Amino acid sequence: MSLFVKKPIDALMAEAGDSEKGLKRTLSAGSLVALGIGAIIGAGLFVRTAAAAAQNAGPSVTIGFIVAAIGCALAGLCYAELSSSIPISGSAYTYTYATMGELLAWIIGWDLVLEYAVGAATVGIAWSEYLNNLLVNVLHWKAIAYEWCHSPFEHSIPDAAGVVHTGIMNVPAFGIVALLSLLLIKGTQESAFVNGIIVITKVAIVILIIIFGWGFINAENHTPYIPAASTYTDHQGINHSYGGIMGILGAAGVVFFAFIGFDAVSTAAQETKSPKKAMPIGILGSLAICTVLYILFAHVLTGLAPVDFFRTTGKEASVVVAIKTYMPGYEWLGKLVTVAILAGFSSVILVMLLGQSRVFYSMSKDGLLPKEFSAVHPKFQTPYKANLIILVIVGAFAAFVPGDIVGDMTSIGTLFAFILVCVAVIILRKTDPDLPRQFKTPWVPLVPILGIVVCAAMILGLGWTNWLRLFGWLAIGFIIYFAYSAKNSKLRNPKK
Ligand code: ALA
Repeated sequence: MSLFVKKPIDALMAEAGDSEKGLKRTLSAGSLVALGIGAIIGAGLFVRTAAAAAQNAGPSVTIGFIVAAIGCALAGLCYAELSSSIPISGSAYTYTYATMGELLAWIIGWDLVLEYAVGAATVGIAWSEYLNNLLVNVLHWKAIAYEWCHSPFEHSIPDAAGVVHTGIMNVPAFGIVALLSLLLIKGTQESAFVNGIIVITKVAIVILIIIFGWGFINAENHTPYIPAASTYTDHQGINHSYGGIMGILGAAGVVFFAFIGFDAVSTAAQETKSPKKAMPIGILGSLAICTVLYILFAHVLTGLAPVDFFRTTGKEASVVVAIKTYMPGYEWLGKLVTVAILAGFSSVILVMLLGQSRVFYSMSKDGLLPKEFSAVHPKFQTPYKANLIILVIVGAFAAFVPGDIVGDMTSIGTLFAFILVCVAVIILRKTDPDLPRQFKTPWVPLVPILGIVVCAAMILGLGWTNWLRLFGWLAIGFIIYFAYSAKNSKLRNPKK
């Protein structure tokens, strides 16, 4: 059988119906929106926004948010159609298997590791930044030494004595990933409950920052709104296109990270009650709420402080340091935000780890990964072995790779997955026009094509180092596919 063998949709549906052996269906539309917002608001907003302003676009990072939101809305409409017609664990991987065949499905599954596993590591690293803030500014203890909360590929801005520190391992980032992986093994339902409480807190603090911060916006920091095109070299010696159109596209690619997660909702399809109705509500509802909050938040943040602040003293834990420096009288808000962010980041990591284990689960069921990845725990009914393997992978990225690099790798990997999802909608409409679709993407093929164009523009903005990382990652994936997956695929080797 060929590399492009497709998984028949009715076989997929039969598997989904086979819930005796599989995962429990416990999630409603409401818990999906909560799951979505839980995954969406996180390090993208509280860490990557400042990075995008510093390195790419200054105040025009808000325009970057608009570009990213447009790309997500277009791809989100495609996700909603696919997840409402193929309500099965595995997200874009499963949709691709049904529409474009096994090799592309493998590529996308492998690529989704960038989105979920590397994304979880990125948020773990951001968690570590704010943990230090908690220790110093809220608890008035000592900060963790630079060496033990940064990767070996990072060095500090010279301190007061002119000393430059180099990282060894990001211990807190590893710790939080390990803790949450163990929580996931215990079960999705309990995790969704904790998540619900965190989501409410998270949305509340974003709204508080917008309301209280608005009065402290300094118009000078917003002038010029779109900086002239130039090159900015950061203190690690890395060049970034700053200002102009490329700056905005670069910023869009970076802050795109802030939207990642609404698609994670679709990975929980197999655990959702009446997925056909709940999925579109979960995906598009959470996306809409976050978009409005993000644009207002970015406007306030870049209005509080000049760009130079985000390149130096405000480089880490930017939001809280900006509140402390530029909003006198609001130290309490800074403290509240620190605590809430730590909880908020945890919920993001949780959903990403969940998404990753579900993708591995599906790939393993299909024989593309070893069967350990789909072993379900006899008592907790969770894919516990997959969770443990993911703990090791995510923990290694969190401990040893810098946050900027894993952040941009997550963005580029996810953008690539979004493009394939848009393509899948167009193909499935042709190859399976009669498939019942609870939710239909409007104006096909226009919407998917625009989705492809906008996502590709963001990939362009992320620059060649990130393209190379994506190619490198996919190359490793090809090797694994031909060395293992092609030989063990259940579709290609029915007797196995
Ligand atoms: N959207 C998630 C975040 O910003 C991944 O942390």
